[in-house]
Parts: sequence; structure tokens; C-alpha cells
Amino acid sequence: MNMFAGRSTSAAEEISHDAFSPKARMIAPACDGGQGTAGTFVSRNFTLGGNPSSARLNISALGLYRAFINGKRVGDDLLTPGWTCYDDRIAYQSYDVSALLQSGENRIEIWLGDGWYRSQILWPSNPIYNCWGDRVAAIAELSSEDGTLLATDETWRSGFTPVLRNGIYYGEDFDARIVPEDSAGVDVLDFDTALLVPHEADAVKELAPFSPIDSWTEDDGRRVFDFGQNAGAYIRIRLKGKAGASVRIEHSEVLGPDRFFDNRNYRSARAELTYTLKGDGEETYAPLFTFMGFRYARVTLPEGVELVSIHSVPITSVPVQAGGFTSGIPAVNRLVENSIWSQRSNFIEIPTDCPQRDERVGWTGDAQVFAGTACWLADSQRFLTKYLRDVMHDQRPNGAVPHFSPDPTRLHPIGERGDWAGSTGWGDAIVIIPWQLYLHYGDDAVLRECFPAMQRWLDYLWSISDGPIIRPPAVWGAHGFTFGDWLQPVGDNRKPRPTVADDCAATLYHFISTDLASRIAGIIGDEAAAARLAARAQEIRLAFSHEFFSPSGRIAHNDQTSWALAFLYGLVPPEFVEAGKSYFRRVVEETDGLIGTGFIGTPALLPALTELGMVDLAEKIFLNRKVPGWLYQVDRGATSIWERWDALAEDGSIYDPSMNSYNHYAYGAVCQWLFEYVAGLKPVAEAPGFRSIKLNPSILPALSPVSAWHDCRHGRISASWSVEGELATFKVSLPEGVTAHLDKACKHRPLSVNGVPVGADEEVRIGSGAHEITFAL
Ligand code: BGC
Repeated sequence: MNMFAGRSTSAAEEISHDAFSPKARMIAPACDGGQGTAGTFVSRNFTLGGNPSSARLNISALGLYRAFINGKRVGDDLLTPGWTCYDDRIAYQSYDVSALLQSGENRIEIWLGDGWYRSQILWPSNPIYNCWGDRVAAIAELSSEDGTLLATDETWRSGFTPVLRNGIYYGEDFDARIVPEDSAGVDVLDFDTALLVPHEADAVKELAPFSPIDSWTEDDGRRVFDFGQNAGAYIRIRLKGKAGASVRIEHSEVLGPDRFFDNRNYRSARAELTYTLKGDGEETYAPLFTFMGFRYARVTLPEGVELVSIHSVPITSVPVQAGGFTSGIPAVNRLVENSIWSQRSNFIEIPTDCPQRDERVGWTGDAQVFAGTACWLADSQRFLTKYLRDVMHDQRPNGAVPHFSPDPTRLHPIGERGDWAGSTGWGDAIVIIPWQLYLHYGDDAVLRECFPAMQRWLDYLWSISDGPIIRPPAVWGAHGFTFGDWLQPVGDNRKPRPTVADDCAATLYHFISTDLASRIAGIIGDEAAAARLAARAQEIRLAFSHEFFSPSGRIAHNDQTSWALAFLYGLVPPEFVEAGKSYFRRVVEETDGLIGTGFIGTPALLPALTELGMVDLAEKIFLNRKVPGWLYQVDRGATSIWERWDALAEDGSIYDPSMNSYNHYAYGAVCQWLFEYVAGLKPVAEAPGFRSIKLNPSILPALSPVSAWHDCRHGRISASWSVEGELATFKVSLPEGVTAHLDKACKHRPLSVNGVPVGADEEVRIGSGAHEITFAL
């Protein structure tokens, strides 16, 4: 197999050809014993005649690297060079290192970690080791205005770092007594430098650390610290004690009843740190090549070791918050905070499902349902565009889009589960994520870049359909398998509620993506494709109606997901709209506001109800405090979004630890509804990137006062409303370059704009600046 064949062309455009000269070679430490063994470095001592006024280090690695010049760390980026389909592209970073160099003797050391490149990926029934290769290595070039000063080549040396063992799931063992010493040479690897691209996303950074908000000692003397926030993070400790003493740090997201320290949900991810002291005064340690998902840490301190301080240091690729939403209900505000934390925790190089267990992979379904929310809460353009390139690289020759990307199973197929690609709702990421990026950032380049892959995905869907209903096999791995509405709660199992069936869920998405791609084709000027896909979408629409609607207008499974998706995407035939609305209403009323949707139904549920004018029901479901419902988890003390609605029972006991994450952003997709429907700020496809906004706040009196903000490319947009009696005051502030208009569908009658009365049929349009619109409710 040629590991390095077939790079995506778009990324190739970003290559800076002079980043590395032919002198720079990919070199592997000759002393490296393979994955899971002692950490190694490559190094070089070198002499400089003077101190160069400007010097740059361009650097990358197979595995993870951390570089030091004269004992000082280069930059503060984490987990570099990042994670991509390494057989397609490997990022490199470029640092100004002038301040680290000196005239005379210098030394550079590049420490290497196993990282995603070769440490375990996926759970123990199919663990993949050495996914992209079995040798860690580095490539680096130091240059000044006079040209190359130093480059990795066969003259470099290697040796062992204090990192005894490391792995993304494993954690890290560190022996501070080990002083790196050159002990072996290097092997120059056969490596194609055309794979190297400038980092396509912003590097992972530390956020402000958390101090413990509580701590206690267990019976056996182990100390537990509560940092108050579940996050993708690592521990930083300061210690004092004798040389050779070892400290062990375990992590957990939750406590069971009686503060039972419970991390069974990490499954085979060891997710621990051990630190062995050097013994010369105060020592500080934070792991170099791993991270965990946790709120609690349990520390085993040997006799004679003093813990000076301990912090949890969250890390993320999106450190800058770009949006916020608050209301008069504290639990709702916490839910939004929880979504922000789940985004931060799972936007670490790629959008992952969770940051804690032996998974942490870029599930496409999770990413697509959350993409809109992600763009509201943080600038996600570069991050998601980079991810889409991996998704495209992982796309199969038959057009199937992977279940997750970068996809280790493409290189190491897992026999009994077939090809890990092709699920509806997941593979549709290739259509939906570019669309959200287009709406938010207004650049059609991402549509153009992804359109061929979209078409191949849609052709795949058509190929597994049967004129054009998709009837997925029930067995995971069989050709055409779908996750359906994954984790849909079936309610009280003495009387389960109907759930969307796989054929309906799959066909709904078949339509959604085909229809959207036809729109996209029109935007990028491919009229022929637009017409072809529009005709196909119409065929699916008719077949859907024939297959899934009864003559009285009831949808086959009569469940919340079917109704929400069918209404939101225009699949309810006009003659059934009224009947459908009452069925939908009943389905929600019967549950007394309990949510009945899984991964794909959830983001659609409240928007669909709101669009249909059933705001009372949207409010009831959203504010329901029982399980399943969003605020149930907040009431149980959640500080990030749970994977399952019922992840903790009322009595605090843990639901099935074999698949239970407390930091899974998928259900946080409800934030998109808060911004677009409750705050009433909808991006407009005809003027994307917020050049224009459609205003239509849904006034849910229980939430008053509501306020939202978002930093778009033009500046800050903010909106707020509050209710007094039958009057609502809606304030909007727009930056230069942004206009807004009141949606014709707005059901509140605008009375005045900035104090000037508005006629009954008068259009309301506003430009930059602060505005106040009053509504009669
Ligand atoms: C992951 C998901 C994913 C799902 C699909 C889970 O194990 O954590 O979030 O979408 O599998 O089956």
C-alpha cells in the first residue's frame, strides 16, 4: 500500500513549497523501541557565529512533537503537529525562535510522542495500533535571512526523554530523574515532504486553569479534587518530595452515589498520569502528549511528597468564544455554558464525539448535527474545513462517507463489521457542514471544494436505495447500514413510544442532502447538477409520501423525529399539513413534554415546532425538567452535555458505563435553535456570512429576558428581548456591513421601530447600529 498516495488537491494549494529545503529529512530516533515504549527525542548541538536577528523553525513530526532550544520550549502550541489523515496531509508549524538562540553553542531537542499516529485508537475489541506508521520521527529546518542554519539529517543524535510511556488513551508516565542524553543515532526515513502543509486550523491551546472547588480524602488515603467543570484537559501539579517517589493521578467525569470515584465509562482508556519526582525542590508537571476528559482527579501521594498545587488545564482548538445566550432561567444559561464546554472539549484538532473514553474520534454524524451551533459559539471555519478535507480523503471509492474521520479503519479494516462508512445522518456531514460554513462565513469556496464529494455521496445513497426509499439492513456493517436516529429514547419501556424506523430515517436524510446539494449546485453555478439533483429530490419526496404517509396524513411511525424532520425539510405533502400538525402536537402532548428524539431528530425538533407556530410545545419540551429532556442533566449538576439523556439516574447512579459519556456535544445542537429562533437571528443563504439577517424572535415568555450575541466577520451582532404584559421589546444591534429584515412569517405585529410607528403591511429593514422594535404579542 502506498500510504502517501492521493492527497486532496485543495490542501495541496496551501503548501508553501519553501517551508522545507531538500536538506531537511524526516529522521527517526534509532533508540525508539516502538509504540508504548520509552519516549525518545532527536537532537543536535550546533554553533552560531552570531545571534541571527530573525530565525524561524519550521517543524513537523510523525507522532507528536515538543521542541526545545537551549532548554526552552518552542511556542506554546499543544499536541503538534495536530491530527489529520496523515497519509494525505501532515501539518507543520513555523515559529520565530530568534529569542531562544544565542551566539556560540546551541542545542535543539525534539521530543516525540506516540499520539494519534501510533498509540491505540478504538476500543479493545478492535484496537488499532501503529495506525499511520510504527516509527515516530521529526523533520525540522531552522533558517534565518541568510538561509538554512540547520536541518534534520543523518548527523542528528537521539536518546530517551523522561516520558516513560505515553498514548492518547493511555495517559503518560514521566520520570523527572531522567535527563535527556544523546545515546544513539537517527535513521533517515523515506518520506515525501509534499505531504507537509501549513497547519490548516489554529493550534490547540491551554485555557485558563481551574483550581479545585472541593477536595476530600478517601478511606485509603487517596485525595480527590473536584475542579467544578468537566473538560478536555490535563492536570498541572506542583510537588515537593524525595527523588524516586511516584505520584499517580486518575481522572473521572462523574461521581457515583456517596461520591464514589467512577471512571468505568473510560472503558479501556487508562487515562492516568504517573509522575516520579526528581527530588530537587519544587517541581511542576503537566503531560506533554495526552489529554483526558474529566472533572475530578484522584491523587495517590506517597509518604513524604507534598502537593503544592493542582489545577485542571482545559485545552482546545477554539479558545475564543464567539457567541453567548442568556435568559431569565439559570438552568438554560447553564445548558448553553455546557454546550460551549462540550465544544471546547471536543474541538481538539478534530471534532470528536467525546474526550474521555477509548474513542475520541471524529464521528461525522455528531459533527454535522452540531455544526450550526459550533459556528455560533466559536469561529469554526478553519477547524471544520480542515476536518472536511479528512472526510473527503476518507471517502470510499463507492462514495460512502466514513462514520468517523480521520478513519483508522480505512487503513486497517475491521473484518466483522464491514466497511465503517455509509450511514445516513453521518455521511451527510459532507453536505451539511459545508452548508453551515457557507451560511456563517459567506465563502463559497468550501461548497466548491466539497461539491464533487457531495455528489459521490448522493450517488452512493441512490445506489443503496430502492426507488428511492432506502431500506437499510439491521446488521451493523452490512452494506447500506444506518445508525438511524441513534440513541433515540424509547421512553418508559413498559409502554415504549414509537421510534422512527431506519428506512424512514435514512430516506429523510436521502432527501435532505439531495435537496440541499441541488441548492448548493445552483450557488456554485452548476445548473445542470442543480436540475438533476432537484429532479432526484422530487422523486424522493414523492416516494417518501407514498411510502410513509397514510391517506389521513399520519406519518408511519408517528414519532417526534419523523415529524420534526419531515416538517422542517418540507416533506409533508401540502394536503397533509393540517392533519400532520395535529398528529405532531398529539405525539408531543402524549409525552407530557418528554423528548423522544435521538441524534438526528433532536436538532430538528424545536425548530420544526417553532416554524409550525407550536411555540407552546417547544417551550414545554425545552423547559421540561424530567428525563429525557435538556434541563434534567443540568439539574443533576452536569457541566457539559451528556451523550445519553439518562446518563445519570435520579438517585445519581450511573447508567450503563459501557457506553456513557458526560461530554458529548450532539444534544447541545439545541443552541442553534436558541440563536436562530428564540433570539430570532437567522443567517440568510442569499446574503451569507451575515451580510443580511432574518429577524423573527420567538417570544417564549418563560425565558424573558433573553439576550444573545455573536461575533461574525463584520463585528458583533446582538439581540435581546423582554416581555411586559402584551408588549415585547426587541433590541438588535448590528455592525457595519450587516443589514436585517423582519421575517414576513413573524407572528408578532411590529408596532414601532426606534419609536417610529410601523404600518400594518410595512416592511421592516434595519442597518448597522442599535435598534429597538416593539411588538404586540
Ligand atoms: C459515538 C457517537 C457516534 C455513535 C454512532 C458512538 O460510539 O460516541 O457519538 O455517533 O457511536 O454509532
